[in-house]
Amino acid sequence: MKAIILSGGKGTRLRPLTYTGAKQLVPVANKPILWYGIEAIVAAGITDINIIISPETGEEVKAKTGNGDHFGARITYTLQEHPGGLAHAVKMAQPFLGDSPFVMYLGDNLIQSELRLFLDHFKAQKLDALTILKSVANPSAFGVAKVDAEGRVLHLVEKPKIPPSNLALVGIYFFDRAIHHAIASIQPSARGELEITDAIQFLIDSSKQVEARQLEGWWLDTGKKDDLLEANRIILDTCLSAAVEGQIDESSQVIGRVQIGRGTQLINCTIRGPVIIGSDCYLENCFIGPYSSIADQATLIDVDLEHSVILQGAKLENIHQRVVDSVIGQRAHLKFAPQRPKALRFLIGDDCQIELA
Ligand code: TTP
Repeated sequence: MKAIILSGGKGTRLRPLTYTGAKQLVPVANKPILWYGIEAIVAAGITDINIIISPETGEEVKAKTGNGDHFGARITYTLQEHPGGLAHAVKMAQPFLGDSPFVMYLGDNLIQSELRLFLDHFKAQKLDALTILKSVANPSAFGVAKVDAEGRVLHLVEKPKIPPSNLALVGIYFFDRAIHHAIASIQPSARGELEITDAIQFLIDSSKQVEARQLEGWWLDTGKKDDLLEANRIILDTCLSAAVEGQIDESSQVIGRVQIGRGTQLINCTIRGPVIIGSDCYLENCFIGPYSSIADQATLIDVDLEHSVILQGAKLENIHQRVVDSVIGQRAHLKFAPQRPKALRFLIGDDCQIELA
């Protein structure tokens, strides 16, 4: 069994962060989203992993993720020259996959459940494809499946105006080699992409064994800002353990589950967990409220922050109003004068410099 993780694509919904970086490397609780997928795959016992990368962000993904030693896996990379769709990415990975069955994992997805249960079912039933479904309130925004009482998939449709069910396709699929013939047999969709839903529909129409299993726990597709913040909230809520390595002065207070990295300095701050602060940060006169993640080398002075994600090297100064629901890009610099506007809500890209004077 092998795995491919799709880490190419355009990432238009997470602009401007994705102008300068891969969306799969945006951190959730200070760890790249992509790494959660790698860890889930390795935990299911699959260690031969190929990551699909784009020309724009591939080198960054490679440099950060490496050859897999760190994860106890063997990680290789396949360049997808253009974002031709999910099925196109599988086509590009065919030399890696050969005839092996495989799991395909979208690099911006996070799920709560373990993969092993799905994998065991896929293997035991000798399926040609196993999809994972989650009931959602807005199925029109997703690929949607119609399933019979035994869990067999009858019909799949991409972003339907009139959805045949409320069951959305989660970005994790299990395939046997029959998928390659299906992909070779389909045409690009109206949006010019080779759609994995069309390839799976081809399998269904060819009387192949295509089943679905429903996901009980949460599923997050972190492709948009609010989903990213929600992923950050859930991960901090469920996975964070307290560990303080930095220096905290006597006038600072740390309450609840808080992680503070090495070389970080806190002066006159209140931190109310769950919060994670990376290494080599400097915080002075700050209140950092629940569900905040601050990456390495960030500087925050006179800041009141909650439910936000601050990327590496960002600098925030003199923000006398509470910053909430915000994502601040790498090295962004946000500096306010004493007189300030009434409400602020941000999605600021890497290298931005904003000064409200
Ligand atoms: P999407 O989020 O569907 O597409 P996208 O990354 O282009 O984002 P947006 O809609 O915001 O423009 O892709 C799901 C995952 O698959 C994501 O990790 C990117 C990856 N992907 C590829 O690797 N190759 C592709 O051709 C496509 C379309 C996506």
